[in-house]
Formats: sequence, structure tokens, C-alpha cells
Amino acid sequence: MLKDKTVVLGITGSIAAYKIANLASMLVKQHADVHVIMTKNATNFIHPITFETLTGNKCLVETFDRNFEFQVEHVSLGERADVMLIAPASANVIAKLAHGIADDMLTTTALAMTAPILVSPAMNTHMYEKKITQENIEKLRDLDMRIIEPANGYLACGTTGVGKMPEPEVLLDAIYGEILRPKTLGGKKIVITAGPTQEAIDPVRYITNHSTGKMGYALARQARYMGADVTLVSGPTALEPPAGVTFVPVVSAKEMYQEVTARTAEDCDAVIMSAAVADYRPTRIAEEKIKKSGDAAVIELERTDDILASLGQQERVPRVNGKKTFLCGFSMETENMLENSKKKLAKKNLDMIVANNLKTAGAGFGVDTNVVTLISRDSDIENGGEEVRVEELPILSKEEVAYEILRRIAKNI
Ligand code: CTP
Repeated sequence: MLKDKTVVLGITGSIAAYKIANLASMLVKQHADVHVIMTKNATNFIHPITFETLTGNKCLVETFDRNFEFQVEHVSLGERADVMLIAPASANVIAKLAHGIADDMLTTTALAMTAPILVSPAMNTHMYEKKITQENIEKLRDLDMRIIEPANGYLACGTTGVGKMPEPEVLLDAIYGEILRPKTLGGKKIVITAGPTQEAIDPVRYITNHSTGKMGYALARQARYMGADVTLVSGPTALEPPAGVTFVPVVSAKEMYQEVTARTAEDCDAVIMSAAVADYRPTRIAEEKIKKSGDAAVIELERTDDILASLGQQERVPRVNGKKTFLCGFSMETENMLENSKKKLAKKNLDMIVANNLKTAGAGFGVDTNVVTLISRDSDIENGGEEVRVEELPILSKEEVAYEILRRIAKNI
């Protein structure tokens, strides 16, 4: 994913420094050209040779190292890099960055950096919460640096609290987000649903479907990468919620209906319903476990509320910019995919529907790829009429399918 990308990692003196070895290794595996710069204090926690071995590049520590191949390494890296991540970032380095102090290789390179800078604060809770540190962090935000919020947890000083550097996977995700996608959804609010719903029969059993949530989680992650403010309303899945999204776990179709309705009532730019919401639920949930009796059993079912149709029916009040909330649905078919999906688009009053045929190889539940057809209302047609545009995408990873969907939505919101 990171072929031809140059990533600069700045490491400061914190116990979490050792975890960056793992991150450097992950980046190299994604074919990034990784350059590590350490403060002198950082070298007390992990030796530069570790990074030189992992990255194949010289690890920079001093500004005026006589062994440098390039005299002005800090400037050349600053121009060549696609992103710089400073992690762990100590309170001291954050203070220096906030005030333009450049007294070592790391801070000098940061000052010469033309690429985006990500900063992952890691320190003792009291240091993190100090007014001056918070002010400095705010200053970095003003200076367009992206702050990766520290996690809550057990800290090296023996206490538990906020200030922990997130795991390398989260940092890798932030790097992807910064360099992979254009920020065409910056400032947009998007609600995405994912996964199956579970409709209880009794305290032990429920009705559900094969959805794993992969498509919806990919949409949430990619929308985040594109700068959107994302709320992910998810049925039960085995997946880790993507970093940086507001995560709303639900179980039943009714809960999903309530959460989506509440979260789209205010200014919302787009809703993408990729969840496989149950169409029916048991009419009654038995309070006690149903005991078996006889050879057959009958469960009476009733319809659930159709979330998308209900959003489509609402008047769709224009938002601040005069545009209506963009509604995107998913349509899974095993036959007559195009015809049935076009009907759904019209019936539910949607702007776009993402259709796939479960019988196509590489599409559907559980797999990491999808083969979809995008059917959208094209209101840009010159003759003024609304027509339906049909676009078949090739087999792509779910992450790429998500990006293609969002790229098109971004043009319309
Ligand atoms: N959907 C919804 N609320 C429901 C059921 C479905 O919002 N109670 C959404 C899904 O998230 C999906 C789209 O509607 O975006 C799917 O439409 P639907 O008519 O349910 O499709 P199918 O279930 O495939 O239709 P059918 O049962 O008629 O085949």
C-alpha cells in the first residue's frame, strides 16, 4: 500500500519508543521508504541500530553528524517525505514544536517538513493534563499538525490514566489516512451502518444473517481517511472499530433504527446503509428459554422498520449548504440484480445504491473483495431531467470499493 512513499518517524525519549520498531517493520513490509530520526534521549530506550537494521536507512540523531552522506539531510527529508510521524512525542518535544524551536535533528527536520506531520503524545497523565501541555497541543493543531489522541491505560510510571501511546496498528492507520487519500470529505458528517442485526427469539436464540461487517467498516475507515466526521452504527461483528470514528454498537434492527434516526436528525451530509438489517423479527420474545416439544416449531415474525425507506420518505430538509442528506443503500441479490436494485433506488428514494450479486465469485459475505455495480441518480444531466447512471466496478478489495463509493459521494455533498 505504501510503495514509493517516504515516511519519516521521529522518536523521542519515552518508554513507548521500543514499540516504534514494530511500526517501522510494518511500514517496511508495506514497501515504504522509512527514515528514523531519534532525539538523544530516545536512544536511551532503544538503540538506533535496531531501526537501521529494520529500515536499511541510517538512523539520524545529531544535526551535525560528520558521517552524513548529505549535509542538509533535514531539508532533503523535509522535501522528500510524504508524511512525518512523531511518536512517542514527549511533552518537551511538543513544547518545542509548538514554538518553532529546532535544536536537534528531529525538531529541525520537523521545521523543514513540507509534508503533513502527525504527533502522538505519550507521557505521564499529570504531564499530559497540565495546562501548558494542553495549550501546546492546541497550538500544534492550529499549526495543522494532526494529533493522535493518547490512549487510556497502564503507564510506565505505575499509574493508570490517559497518556499512553496507541498501539503501532493505530499509528499505521493514521499514516495510511494521512497519505493515501485526498481529503475530499473534510468537514462532512457521515453516518455508516455495518454488520448484521440479531433478532431475539428467547434469552438463548436469535435470528441473524451472514454479514461480517467488513464492507461497512471499510467504508468507515476510508471515509475517515478522506477527512470525514464518521459515525459507525454497527451490529455485532468480530471486527475492531476503525480508529477515529464514533462507534455506536447495536444489536437489533430496532436499536439500529433508533440510533440512525437520532444521529441523522441533525445536520448530516450522507448516510450509507451497508448493514444487513433483518427484515423480520419474532413477534414476541419469549421471556424464558423455549423448551422443545413435538417435531416442528413455528416462530411468528413481523416486519422491522425499514431505516432507509424511512429516511427517504422524510422531507429531507436541505442542510446548511442547501443540499439534502445523500442516501446510499446496498442491495444484495441472487438474480435480476440490476432490475431489482433500480426498483429499490426509486422505491426508497435514494441517491445511490450499491448492488452486488451474491453468486459472483469474489463478492458478498466474509470475503475481502467485492464486485459491485453503482446505480445512482444523476441530477447533473444537462437536460435537467434525472436519469439513472449505472457503473460496473471490477473486482476490488473492500477497502478500494469503499473508496470508489465515497469518491463519488464526495462529489455530491
Ligand atoms: N435496510 C434498512 N432497513 C431495513 C432493511 C434494510 O435500512 N429494515 C437497508 C439495508 O441496509 C440496505 C437496503 O436497505 O441498504 C437493502 O434494501 P432491502 O429492500 O432490504 O434489500 P433486500 O433485503 O435485499 O430486499 P428484498 O428482501 O426485497 O430482497
